[in-house]
Parts: sequence; structure tokens; C-alpha cells
Amino acid sequence: MSVPGQQMRVVSGMRPTGRLHLGHYHGVLKNWVKLQQEYECFFFVADWHALTTHYDDPKSLNEHVWDMVIDWLACGVDPGRATLFIQSQVPQHAELNLLLSMITPLSWLERVPSYKDQQEKLKERELATHGFLGYPVLQAADILMYQASMVPVGEDQVPHIELTREIARRFNYLYGREEGYEEKAERAIQKMGKKAARLYRQLRTAYTEQGDSEAIERAHALLDAQHNITLGDRERLYGYLEGGGRIILQEPDARLTQSPKLPGLDGQKMSKSYGNAIALRDDPDRVTKALRAMPTDPARVRRNDPGNPEKCPVWQLHEVYSLPNTKAWVIEGCTTAGIGCLDCKQSLIEVIIAEQHENHRRAKEYSADPTLVRNIIADGCERAREVAEDTMEEVRHCVGTDYY
Ligand code: TRP
Ligand code: SF4
Repeated sequence: MSVPGQQMRVVSGMRPTGRLHLGHYHGVLKNWVKLQQEYECFFFVADWHALTTHYDDPKSLNEHVWDMVIDWLACGVDPGRATLFIQSQVPQHAELNLLLSMITPLSWLERVPSYKDQQEKLKERELATHGFLGYPVLQAADILMYQASMVPVGEDQVPHIELTREIARRFNYLYGREEGYEEKAERAIQKMGKKAARLYRQLRTAYTEQGDSEAIERAHALLDAQHNITLGDRERLYGYLEGGGRIILQEPDARLTQSPKLPGLDGQKMSKSYGNAIALRDDPDRVTKALRAMPTDPARVRRNDPGNPEKCPVWQLHEVYSLPNTKAWVIEGCTTAGIGCLDCKQSLIEVIIAEQHENHRRAKEYSADPTLVRNIIADGCERAREVAEDTMEEVRHCVGTDYY
């Protein structure tokens, strides 16, 4: 949803994990660089989100934040186009998080898949905390604060965006109704007849009070089946289910980042925690060594043993990096033992190093000038606070904390 005539806003955040790798570049940053050309973008370091799981490691946070920001800049994220900031430096996020938490049913949070998944995955950490359960509310605050219409995220984040939409709807429902709206809706309910009216009320309560999303679908079906109400009333009752009044917080859409999963040096998904990553700032020497040491199809023991690219992690990198004619050369050469694995890797090494060249140049420039980086972020935080404060003035008015 977006207001016509208004430029689309994009918001996205990244937890500060330190230096980024090629997976981040292909999966996220290339996309940000593209989006910043077309939309008004807010990109931020989600440092509070990092603390929901890594609250016991304050020392590395600072370093991770600056390393990540430098990598963003190195990839071409442009502070002249996008607003770059750090979440915790815009305290409005905490205030909105708090206010949204008042209206978010516990059951909505407990059913977010990442809640249980992450607790299982990070068993060694104590994650039965208020902050961790509330992670998606904080994320909703990040997004709704800027009235974003689009949030570029990976697949794992889609449930969080859905929850953000539900929270926005509930907020608008509670605080955005216009006068006389309720009476009109009540009159429309009565026109449906006793049985349907009763069911409609039950479903509406189930949705607004317990957040039962199945109830809202059933209510829509019920309304669709009513033939004795006018189109206007039907629309009113649709709206009445979830607010239907003024939009105070805009519902965002998730924009799935389409990118191939980048394999790591061992063929598994590239990830810092698997130790199989090529960092953005790895120098050509390290890239060359790491690629040369990569495992290949085990069938190719000797130079003249033919192989099968499908069984080789190096091939997966070719799939991301190489042009069609290079790929054809690999398939032909590998399956006939026409090329050796080192030849095959060499062509890959060259494209990866060429791609990194410009990023390295910029990374060097920015790491040599920490003041510049701090100023970029300071400006971004200031701009973000201005926009955030606009939203908060409205939100405070809605909930009644704007004293006069
Ligand atoms: N949860 C996101 C992640 O782990 C990071 C994040 C925090 C985010 N707030 C956000 C992403 C707002 C998009 C919008 O990747
Ligand atoms: Fe892998 Fe290339 Fe060797 Fe084939 S030739 S096994 S694709 S590295």
C-alpha cells in the first residue's frame, strides 16, 4: 500500500555481524544499491536487534557496527541517496516499540516461526527473554516509523513483515476510526440478518481481540456470501473488521530479494559461522588461495579423470559468477577431462577479484577516514530522527501521551 503521488519509501535493516562476505553482497547489498536509485531509502544498523541474542557481548558490537557500515559504503551504498543510520541512535524506535507492544497480542509473537527456530538453533544462549520474544515488534517499529511501503528482505523475514502489517492494521483500527463510522457499520451488520450478524460479530472479536487471522478470512467469506447488503455496506464491514478508518501507520509490503544462494568454500550456504565465507575485504591473495583449496568433484582424483560439475561446489560459484560461454567451457572441459580443476578455478578467481576491485578501493578509502564514516552516520541519524519524530508526534497523539 502506498499513498499515490508520494515517493515510495524503502526501509531495511541489518544486524551488525562485522565484516560482510560475498553472500551479503549478492544477497542484499547489490539490491540496496539498485533500490537507492529509484526510491527514498532508509538503511540502518539493527544494533538493538543484535542485542536480543548477543546481549552478553558488548565489546564486539562497536567494532562490528563500523566494519559493517564500511562494507556497505564499499559496495556502493550511497549516503548521498540513502539515509544510513544506527537504530539505537534514533531513540524513537524504542518508544514506538514500547507503544506497539501494548497492542500486540502475545499469541501473535509466540507463533512467529523464528521465535522457536532460533531458540533451538542458539541453544547455548538464554533466549527465553522478553526482548527476544519482542524482536518482531521492534522490527515493526523500525518499519512503521518511516511509513515504508516496501521492505527488501530474505525469505526468513517474511513472517516478520506479515506481523508488521497486522500490527499496523490493529493500530489503525484502534486509533484511526472516523466519527460516525461505528454507527454506520453497526447498522450495516443488522441488515445482514440475525444469524450472519452474530457470526460476523464473533469473528470480528476473534480477530481484533485474539488476533486470530483465520477468523478474518472466514469473515471475508461470510461477507462475500451476503446478497442482501449494498456494496457500500459490504465495503464498510470489510473495513470494520480491521479498522477501516484513517491510516496512521502504513502497511508495508515485503519485497523478496531474488538472488541465488551463494555457496561457500565448502558448497554449503556461505556463512560466517560455517567458516566457509569469502569476505568482501579479502585481498586477491586470500581469494586465490581459498579458491584453489576448494574441494571439487571427488571423482576427479587425477587430471585425466572426468568429473561432473553437479557434484562440485566450484561449479555453484560459476553458476553465480560466470557468463554462459564460460559455463559451457566448464561443463565440456570437466566432463571430458579436457580442463583441470585449477584451470576451472582460475577463471572464477579472475571474475571474483575483478568484481571486488572497486569495493576494495572504496573500503580502503573509508577505513582510512573514520571521521568521514562517523559523519555520514551522524547525518543519517539526524535525518532519521526528523522523520521518526513526525511519526511519533502523531502516534503520541493517538495514544494520549501528547500532553498539552
Ligand atoms: N530482522 C532482520 C534480520 O535479521 C533485521 C531487521 C531489523 C530488519 N529491523 C528490520 C530488516 C527492519 C528489515 C526491516 O535480517
Ligand atoms: Fe569442479 Fe571445475 Fe574441477 Fe569440474 S573441473 S570438478 S567443475 S573444479
